[in-house]
Amino acid sequence: MTALLLGVLLAQPSFEVAGFTRPLVLDAPSAKQCAECHPDRAREWSASAHRESLTNRVFLDGFSTEPHLRCLVCHGPLEAQVKATWPAREALAKGQLPALDSPVHEGITCAVCHVRDGVVLSPRAGSLPYGHPVRHEPALRTSEFCGTCHEFDGHAVVDGATQLNALPMQTTLSEWRAWGGAQTCQSCHMPASSHRVRGGHDVDFVRSAVRLEVRGAEAIVTAHDVGHRVPTGDVFRHLVLWADDEPLMRFGLELTRGVDARGRPGVLIANDTRLIPDVPVTVRIPPGAKRVRLTYHFTSVSIRPRPLLTREDELVELWSLPVGQRSTGRTEKTSTSTPGE
Ligand code: HEC
Ligand code: HEC
Ligand code: HEC
Ligand code: HEC
Ligand code: HEC
Repeated sequence: MTALLLGVLLAQPSFEVAGFTRPLVLDAPSAKQCAECHPDRAREWSASAHRESLTNRVFLDGFSTEPHLRCLVCHGPLEAQVKATWPAREALAKGQLPALDSPVHEGITCAVCHVRDGVVLSPRAGSLPYGHPVRHEPALRTSEFCGTCHEFDGHAVVDGATQLNALPMQTTLSEWRAWGGAQTCQSCHMPASSHRVRGGHDVDFVRSAVRLEVRGAEAIVTAHDVGHRVPTGDVFRHLVLWADDEPLMRFGLELTRGVDARGRPGVLIANDTRLIPDVPVTVRIPPGAKRVRLTYHFTSVSIRPRPLLTREDELVELWSLPVGQRSTGRTEKTSTSTPGE
């Protein structure tokens, strides 16, 4: 919606929303230039998943299994980035990165969100054009804006060409709509306009939204203070509840191969057991178990080997609680829980 609107307003195309099959052609300065006058925003962004979207090991590991053009066009949308990544795809799939001055290291860079037609888009009215031409773009403060990338359908490579289908891949915007709360993506992920955009790789942030409780012989898992399913985003992410070292329950997507309504091939979501905000899930703990644990996994466990990944890249332990006494894993300082790792 928003992207269509931007497309109508601007001579220059905004995002290739319908698919990210072509790069974004922009007169795009490097984040280094913006950093000279906006050092705080640049510092936050430098530590964000957005800057690392082409270079982080979890992405490169996924890309090594599916080295498709479209992955690179969405994870690094500028023409200069695609020109640098696509010819180097074999090296990237082995985790070999270009020199640090390459635009590949800027991932989702400032210009992707802020520059169109040589004009900087501002989230607020009344910005002064002292550093550069600037135009108010109210869309920047909407969830729909984030949804231009955080909501998309899948694709398959058919005879060497990218073929889009109508099978949902990431649905964070729809999940946010179904949640129906007042906060936008920005209110939770960009407090005080911070460009750090904390997410699933920030263990404390995830702990702030996932609670584990033990009551007698029951473990209760609840997502709270979150505006979408947990986990959302990449289809391989999932949580596992354990009794000692025995898996009790998996919260995630189950995938299978299939076709869409027009017969186009792709990945089909066969089952969805991800947590729904504020809907507790109660699981019986088998007799004799000493602890229950909750772990967060960033990848599928079935694809092996994964030479690019460390164990910490693959999973973190969110909570580990003793059975036999009432205990709670949450974020208050008084908590009786012992977060693992
Ligand atoms: C030479 C210094 C300079 C450079 C380089 C620069 N800016 Fe700015 N920018 C400014 C100034 C000055 C303002 C106006 C602030 C105001 O109105 O108080 C501004 C305003 C903005 C705003 C509007 C927000 C606000 O506070 O009004 C955004 C967004 C922005 N710049 C982004 C960028 C981006 C992205 C880049 C790199 C493509 C960039 N700027 C490069 C100096 C600069
Ligand atoms: C993923 C998209 C995205 C990227 C990448 C991005 N921004 Fe922003 N930026 C936003 C959004 C959204 C806002 C408005 C946030 C809010 O206040 O709700 C914003 C706000 C700003 C503001 C105004 C904030 C204020 O203090 O009032 C500045 C300045 C800015 N960005 C500069 C930058 C610079 C410099 C970079 C790169 C180092 C950058 N942005 C990268 C989306 C982005
Ligand atoms: C141009 C596309 C694009 C836009 C626009 C965009 N994102 Fe992202 N975002 C990405 C990509 C790609 C990643 C994955 C980075 C990686 O590989 O880890 C990401 C990662 C994230 C993460 C970290 C997820 C995690 O735990 O790994 C959060 C949180 C996030 N984005 C929030 C936002 C918010 C909020 C907005 C709107 C202000 C936004 N994004 C706009 C493309 C985008
Ligand atoms: C009410 C607050 C809230 C809102 C609104 C919200 N998020 Fe989140 N988001 C969180 C929290 C907390 C987490 C960490 C828990 C988790 O792992 O899901 C998170 C995690 C994520 C992740 C990492 C994947 C994951 O689940 O670990 C992405 C990507 C993301 N959010 C994107 C978005 C986008 C895009 C929107 C808007 C469409 C949005 N979020 C709206 C609070 C929020
Ligand atoms: C339309 C945009 C888009 C396309 C196309 C796309 N991605 Fe992503 N990808 C995202 C967004 C947005 C996220 C952030 C959500 C999250 O971190 O869970 C993401 C996250 C990921 C992650 C998780 C990264 C992390 O830090 O944990 C992996 C792995 C990944 N993508 C691999 C791929 C691969 C491989 C392809 C091609 C087959 C691909 N993506 C195509 C938008 C896209």
